Amino acid sequence: MRVGGRVVRELGTSVDDGARVEVDGRIVRPAETRTYVVLNKPVGVMTTMRDPEGRRTVADLVRRAGVEARVVPVGRLDYDTSGVLLLTDDGDTANVLTHPRFGVEKTYRATLRGRLEPAAVEKILRGVRLDEGRAAPAQLRVVAVRRDVSQVDITIHEGRNRQVRRMFEVVDHPVLALVRLRFGPISLGDLAPGAVRPATDRERAALHRIAAEARDEPGPGPS
Ligand code: URA
Repeated sequence: MRVGGRVVRELGTSVDDGARVEVDGRIVRPAETRTYVVLNKPVGVMTTMRDPEGRRTVADLVRRAGVEARVVPVGRLDYDTSGVLLLTDDGDTANVLTHPRFGVEKTYRATLRGRLEPAAVEKILRGVRLDEGRAAPAQLRVVAVRRDVSQVDITIHEGRNRQVRRMFEVVDHPVLALVRLRFGPISLGDLAPGAVRPATDRERAALHRIAAEARDEPGPGPS
């Protein structure tokens, strides 16, 4: 048997999560023991497991859906944001997905006050200045522009606090509603608000690929 390329002969050798294990030249994988679920977080729900003020939390929703594993949210959505939220009990993968260094892409549908002009779009594309420093350039797709209200899909790879709302504040188009459509390889699709589904095999494979790539990078990988 080889573990991470090194020959191992001792019986009962324990192996780190995610290590490459080969027996007779073939890669063997342990049965999946981790849980990954996708929630469409509704507006008015806290992205925490417990709220001292007694507000509804994502924990209430996953428990109600019958998820028994001790999953926690990967990153967070504001109280007034809805959409894709991944929850897992796989701490390593969660760390990678939220670490700024690995820049997982997130796409949001933002409904904005006012008629969005090309100059504002340009600023967002270039990266606006926020209090703590310039936001990285974003990708933007204009969905609709009307006199009082506009809609865009914005893709960012940072995860600063209330980032999308603050970016549009800077260009004088406050966000009226925000829905996360995609988190890395996971899309919202037609999941109803408050509903929970298991990640698909394809999504899980993509999550593992991201974690494995991070592990192979030099420097601090997942803890
Ligand atoms: N950006 C925000 O402003 N809010 C969120 O919930 C997520 C991204």
